[in-house]
Amino acid sequence: MKILDGNKVATEIKNEIAQSVIRNLKLNKRPPHLAAILVGENGASETYVAAKVKACEKVGFVSSLIRFKENISQEKLLKKIEEINCNDDIDGLIVQLPLPKHINEIKITQSINPLKDVDGFHPINLGKMQLNLPTYISATPAGIVELLKRYNIETSGKHCVVVGRSNIVGLPISILMGKNNEIGNCTVTLTHSRTKNLKYITKQADILIVALGKSEFIDKSMIKEGVCIIDVGITRVKSDKTKSGWKLLGDVNFNSVKDSCSYITPVPGGVGPMTIAMLLQNTLKSANKEVY
Ligand code: GUN
Repeated sequence: MKILDGNKVATEIKNEIAQSVIRNLKLNKRPPHLAAILVGENGASETYVAAKVKACEKVGFVSSLIRFKENISQEKLLKKIEEINCNDDIDGLIVQLPLPKHINEIKITQSINPLKDVDGFHPINLGKMQLNLPTYISATPAGIVELLKRYNIETSGKHCVVVGRSNIVGLPISILMGKNNEIGNCTVTLTHSRTKNLKYITKQADILIVALGKSEFIDKSMIKEGVCIIDVGITRVKSDKTKSGWKLLGDVNFNSVKDSCSYITPVPGGVGPMTIAMLLQNTLKSANKEVY
């Protein structure tokens, strides 16, 4: 079994981005600028946004973190988004999800200028992805594709089984893996909570992508010998063995499958770090006007 080391690949990508920023500065171009909006005080969101801001600093981007109280009105939030949409000094805008219940996430996602939607959540960008037009692919699916590419994993003609159909991961990665691209050309099965005989299907996977958010759901009895496993899950559970009092678990029981698979992404250190690298890559794309 080989580990697909997301930390290592993400560091390589961030170094490439940092070099690109330096090249642009020499051409008198300003550094890329990412704005992030954070509403309320959700612990996980705080951690994710802090990691994004820190990553921006590391590669030489400018970042702006805009915080609002939990009770901000939808109208006020929309107004701020519109202001950023029109600000030529800002290349990318993300609104960290989830949002409080009184705010309509779909409305917010659709209010972001598609040319600044570096999360790739806007319907226009999802449509462009389907048609292979220049766009921003959401960070997690883009990170999975990049990881497979950099480890030279053959995907053409393989059976890819995706577990979970979320708009952010399961659905877009199932589309990407079936496309006629360098990473793609798979026969894809998208499974979800209503799938019957899930184990029968996961056992047929040459590439198994698991993104359902149930810790250690997949074990040895559900896989085929030699499968390549991409574990997207990150569930925080209490632990008395770590300093923080928390540990992260994937959707795959690592110890159970480790001797049966060909490749696997660890949790932490697999898909997670890749997502931040891809968000930076999307922001650089925006600054370089590669999406239009
Ligand atoms: N919440 C969980 N993942 C994401 C993400 O990739 N982008 C945003 N904006 N919110 C999230």
